[in-house]
Amino acid sequence: MSSAHSKQDIQRFWGSLYDSLYEDVDASLTPEILKQSLEALEDMFRFREHMAVIDMPSHEIVGKKVLEIGCGAGGHSALFASHGAKMTSVDITPARVQSTQRKFELLGDAAQGCRAMQADAENLPFEDGEFDIVYSNGVLHHTHDTEKAIAEVHRVLKPGGKAVIMLYCKSSWQYWINLWLCIGVLMGRAFRDPNWVGKATEWGGKNEQSVENPITRCYSAGEIHKLFSQFEKPKLRKREFYFRLIPKLGKIYLKFQRRRYGEHPGGLLVYGEPWVIQSPLELWLGKLMGFAWFITTRKPEKNTKC
Ligand SMILES: C[S@@+](CC[C@H](N)C(=O)[O-])C[C@H]1O[C@@H](n2cnc3c(N)ncnc32)[C@H](O)[C@@H]1O
Repeated sequence: MSSAHSKQDIQRFWGSLYDSLYEDVDASLTPEILKQSLEALEDMFRFREHMAVIDMPSHEIVGKKVLEIGCGAGGHSALFASHGAKMTSVDITPARVQSTQRKFELLGDAAQGCRAMQADAENLPFEDGEFDIVYSNGVLHHTHDTEKAIAEVHRVLKPGGKAVIMLYCKSSWQYWINLWLCIGVLMGRAFRDPNWVGKATEWGGKNEQSVENPITRCYSAGEIHKLFSQFEKPKLRKREFYFRLIPKLGKIYLKFQRRRYGEHPGGLLVYGEPWVIQSPLELWLGKLMGFAWFITTRKPEKNTKC
């Protein structure tokens, strides 16, 4: 899969988004604040039926060698470490690796043996079959060669090992209505910019965006099954629907939503700010037309291909 953008462009974008979202939160972290923030994060994930809690239950990850690919600022990795997983967390962006390593240090003995390091999802610096579980949330659709990155997930997993992965969903309201219809067609971006989906996704936080998000891809269920053809048949769950993401109108809804449903402190570690609570209707719509595929599958015990 080719792209006009280099790996440095990817690092530059995610480095600058780190500054915008997490710099201030990280500067204020202490062991006590981190502990409270992880409790809040877990509670928020339970409310949203996120794969970080549903597909990574603490009894299944304790003592297991878990690789997180694209750990970002390390909220998910720190949560798994606090439940006793032996974490190896990689990201292509140096500031994000440092942020994750610092969280392991703040966790102290609870994160003994956990490490964060810089690595590219498409060329992981690990032996074949090194990990019991590979976890990746919202990362592999942002790399040049998603197929290669998924082949790497397969390679570094033990036979029988579990992959827990979130990729963006094409058969969703966000893709067809918010992105394709509103931004692509009505605002005309699809006709003049090959990377219009990249540019229309991902930015947030305190700073003005000055760099372009090089790549965002979305997948249909059929494409997911093809991507994971080396694995056992994947289980797919659709989640994550937000009225506030509707271009223009969403901002008005957000004001109402904040007043009506309030904010959850669980957003701090993963979005750099409290998360505005979804309405019951949004939670329900997420199952039908959400933007996230939560994918779980396993590497077969035996290689069936000759
Ligand atoms: C949307 S963020 C997700 C961060 C984290 N997983 C989370 O859910 O909070 C995407 C992350 O993927 C990382 N990334 C992008 N391409 C990568 C690659 N080829 N190898 C490793 N990490 C990559 C970025 O640096 C960024 O931290």
